[in-house]
Amino acid sequence: MKILNTIKDMRIAVKEAQRNGKTIGFVPTMGYLHEGHLSLVRRARAENDLVVVSIFVNPTQFGEGEGFETYPRDLERDSNLVESAGADIVFAPAAAEMYPLGAATYVEIASDITGKLCGASRPGHFKGVTTIVTKLFNIVTPDRAYFGQKDAQQVAVIEQMVRDLYLGVEIVPCPIVREEDGLAMSSRNTYLTNDERKAAAILSTALAKAQEMIKDGERNALEIRKVITEKINSEPLSQIDYIEIVNDRTLEPIEEIKGSLLIALAVKIGKTRLIDNIRLEV
Ligand code: PAJ
Repeated sequence: MKILNTIKDMRIAVKEAQRNGKTIGFVPTMGYLHEGHLSLVRRARAENDLVVVSIFVNPTQFGEGEGFETYPRDLERDSNLVESAGADIVFAPAAAEMYPLGAATYVEIASDITGKLCGASRPGHFKGVTTIVTKLFNIVTPDRAYFGQKDAQQVAVIEQMVRDLYLGVEIVPCPIVREEDGLAMSSRNTYLTNDERKAAAILSTALAKAQEMIKDGERNALEIRKVITEKINSEPLSQIDYIEIVNDRTLEPIEEIKGSLLIALAVKIGKTRLIDNIRLEV
């Protein structure tokens, strides 16, 4: 496996692969990898000839006080993990490589798809994501790019961007990988104390309860939202940011449980903001 730090080297490697007729699978990450990330790398390995994983903590998607400086970083450990998951190339550029002095162009979706859910409490976040993902797509020129359903809004946003700008990359959403008690894996879970870690299981427990209600025939989104809210509020360490039941493509709220939908939530456990969701076809 190669570790490349410059755009120039990355382009040379990609061009060579494409000259040889190879397909390229791409997994963008911010590092500090866990099984959730690695599941994307394995899927990319199974479906492509060349697998590129980027590791770049993207400054423009962090708001003030959102922990850009303290985001955990360990390139050596990450490189070993992605190598064992089957990657061919790690692309790990410096911040000045991706945002050189004078760079002033951003990619921003003008609809409210980026303003709701996580976008409401993280203004500018998705503008940072769409900008860096466009830059990375232009460098790596993948056939397929792999994203986790854990960040469901990110998937919807990237899919809209790819549609709108004819980027010609196939976006492959991948299932959420969870801990044994149901907690969705996340680099942020490392911030939790022992008590908080136990309390954090309430997110997936509440979603499982919602899923059960729907299976039993409940079709009123407000009723389901109420039960999830009560369940999460029963955990003293939790503080709800949002609980939303939305169409999974437009992220517009729905009243009746019908079609492709997403139940998404963000909850603070202590100081740590966690997200989780389930996607259902009813
Ligand atoms: P990061 O948080 O490192 O996540 C990289 C990818 O791993 C994302 O597609 C995310 O949805 C996926 N992922 C994280 N936890 C997962 C889990 N438990 N199960 C399945 N997939 C999981 O998302 C980003 O980085 C950045 O916004 C990025 C797209 C790299 C742009 O900077």
